[in-house]
Amino acid sequence: MEQITDHTFITSRLISWYNEHKRDLPWRATSDPYLVWLSEVILQQTRVAQGWNYYLRFVDRFPDVQSLAEAEEEEVLKLWQGLGYYTRARNLHAAAIQITHDFDGKFPSDYTHILSLKGVGKYTAAAIASIAFQEPYAVVDGNVFRVLSRLFAIETPIDTTAGKKTISELAQLLIHPDQPGTYNQAIMDFGAMVCTPSQPKCSDCPLQDFCKAYELREVSLFPVTSRKVAIRNRYFNYFYIIQGGFTFIQKRSESDIWKNLYEFPLVETTEAVDFPALSQTDAFTQLFPKEISLTVDHCHNAKHQLSHQILHTKFYKVELPEGVTFNPPESIIRIEEKDLANYPVSRLTEKYLELI
Ligand code: ADE
Ligand code: SF4
Repeated sequence: MEQITDHTFITSRLISWYNEHKRDLPWRATSDPYLVWLSEVILQQTRVAQGWNYYLRFVDRFPDVQSLAEAEEEEVLKLWQGLGYYTRARNLHAAAIQITHDFDGKFPSDYTHILSLKGVGKYTAAAIASIAFQEPYAVVDGNVFRVLSRLFAIETPIDTTAGKKTISELAQLLIHPDQPGTYNQAIMDFGAMVCTPSQPKCSDCPLQDFCKAYELREVSLFPVTSRKVAIRNRYFNYFYIIQGGFTFIQKRSESDIWKNLYEFPLVETTEAVDFPALSQTDAFTQLFPKEISLTVDHCHNAKHQLSHQILHTKFYKVELPEGVTFNPPESIIRIEEKDLANYPVSRLTEKYLELI
């Protein structure tokens, strides 16, 4: 019995806290499922501050499902440029087309159909169903894991099946049946603003009286995880080749990272190498046959962190005299230097372009 009472108190305190402190976000003025969807997809792996302007530009260019469905994928990617995790943009576009084909252009209005959309997982489906259609599906995101693991001092590691199940069940118990969208947004804002990953504001917390981790004076031990994800190091050597106002780029086709974005010709090595060592590799001589003599103008070093990879990158700017015949592999295209800005590129490449 005590448990049930606690749950009800926690829910109502979360909602009161939210009504007083909620963030004033551009997508909160609407319950249009298309706009809720877009904001949730942007916020999946992006902070609010960073996603804000992207959201506004996206809505401006694609105000509804139809306009998004009619766009070219390349334009969608270009608008997404810099946000990372580009699969999200490709899936948004694909799902917009799916909605025009399978749902007569009307955004599906229940959890199960929403979940059938390309790129929409349980989290996003619960967010849209609750915020736009008042269906009682609890969201479970990083905030929810953290907040609930602390409130209930959950010892089961949250990166295990059992841990995920425990948290999901608790979230579903806590959801307010009449205000599911408000509850879901309340717990996410609470996790982002009060029960933060480091230095949570326990002394000002409206849930302090109910918080088991706080009672144990062990807040910093939660959430419990069973392992840290291994980080992979990669070594990228890019060539920004200049030949009489032209340069060379290629579309990345591997699905490891940045699929369908453009980048400079690349030689990936298994460790950090200097230019003399690099020029001995097979990949280098395939790009630049021995008879071509290059002038290296500069080399810029950049380290780029992705979620599970660190890219140690060198950008070589090289000059080819106008008279030299350069026949790069077929995947590499020759473009005017001034047109570089029209191609969607990764944030890593964009930062280099800003620099030069
Ligand atoms: N993070 C992702 N979606 C959110 C939402 N709707 N409210 C607060 N934080 C979020
Ligand atoms: Fe989070 Fe601290 Fe509040 Fe517990 S008391 S819910 S750990 S902010």
